[in-house]
Amino acid sequence: MVLVKNPSPARGENAKKDSKKRSRASRGNSPADQATSRGNSSGKSNNSGVKVVTKSSLQQSRGSETGSIERLVDGDKRVIATKHLLPENNINVVVRVRPLSRKEIKAGDDMAVQFPGDGQIYCEGFPSSVEKKGKLFSYNVVFEPTATQEDILQFSGVKKLIEMAVEGFSCTAFCYGQTGSGKTHTLTGPPEMFERMNPYSEQHGLVFRSFVYLFKLLQERQECNFVLKASFLEIYNEKVIDLLNPGTSRKPLMVRWSKKIRGFFVENLFTVECEELDDLLAVLEEGMRNRKVGSHNMNDHSSRSHSILTVSITSEQQMDNSVFISKQGKINFVDLAGSEMTKKTQSEGKTLEEANNINKSLMVLGIIIKKLQPQSTMQINH
Ligand SMILES: Nc1ncnc2c1ncn2[C@@H]1O[C@H](COP(=O)(O)OP(=O)(O)OP(=O)(O)O)[C@@H](O)[C@H]1O
Ligand SMILES: [Mg+2]
Repeated sequence: MVLVKNPSPARGENAKKDSKKRSRASRGNSPADQATSRGNSSGKSNNSGVKVVTKSSLQQSRGSETGSIERLVDGDKRVIATKHLLPENNINVVVRVRPLSRKEIKAGDDMAVQFPGDGQIYCEGFPSSVEKKGKLFSYNVVFEPTATQEDILQFSGVKKLIEMAVEGFSCTAFCYGQTGSGKTHTLTGPPEMFERMNPYSEQHGLVFRSFVYLFKLLQERQECNFVLKASFLEIYNEKVIDLLNPGTSRKPLMVRWSKKIRGFFVENLFTVECEELDDLLAVLEEGMRNRKVGSHNMNDHSSRSHSILTVSITSEQQMDNSVFISKQGKINFVDLAGSEMTKKTQSEGKTLEEANNINKSLMVLGIIIKKLQPQSTMQINH
């Protein structure tokens, strides 16, 4: 997962006489209140069966920048993540290694990576292949298989991105990796959970948890008026589809260049104003139901499209001299479809066509990222 902070905030100073205060409190039955007690394997069970995180169950035995984050699992202290100090360049790269699946365990597969600590991963070499020697890679944070969904929110740096988006910065959390590696699980939770949404499920991913955190922040900032707008799109077979308004024919939308914003935009993309947490959660739920998912040999619920969920946050604050400061930030959550070796996934027909488009677009994206990479970071292995 890659976390990107845009260094130049899009903000403006507006002088206005009056402004209408809007209440941003979430509904009484919203999951916000319960959210802090969700998603941890080390918690105690309360009467309702919801696990509760106790402060003492999380311990950070680290210096200020590097070291390991530990948790008590069944009474044992276990490392859930390690951190490494890399050069500050507005991009944080975070890795999550998922546990072996049942299928992999049954097939006798073994973990191909080791965790030497300090945000590093060691990939073993294969005597029979070109990569004979093992390799060491460094990241900002490495999450080990014991990490829970809540750990990802707490220690990946996403909370900081949300705080910056509220402050008027443009931020992106971007998931990439091979098919079946756990991108969608980490970002949204398993797709089948959206068929019948349980707001208190431990499986909820980073997006759900970030929304809860965002509304908590907004409620603490009573001096500001906030307007939130959300959109959700997918790129399926190189075509942009609106996940909030796909229509029966899933007619693709056009991507155009705007001189005014000096950037690309999707024409006629549906945006939903979200006054309450439940509105944002409804956007996530609706989009996930409409997203293209397929099955192949390496993943029963494989994303067949790249998706972008965007929440734009406009804030307005009255200063002492009747001047209003307005800020416009946003947070993008990008879930890419994973790269596929079609020999291994055994994709055929429609699934094969999708796989070819996925691989082609990921290759182009890789080239672009490489071109944008500053020379100074080229020697760091990611
Ligand atoms: N941390 C985890 N703990 C338990 N199960 C996981 C974890 N991460 C992923 N899984 C499971 O592994 C399978 C593959 O995960 P997922 O669908 O998120 O992969 P993906 O990277 O999005 O793949 P694709 O690129 O094909 O969409 C799913 O069944 C998912 O529930
Ligand atoms: Mg996926």
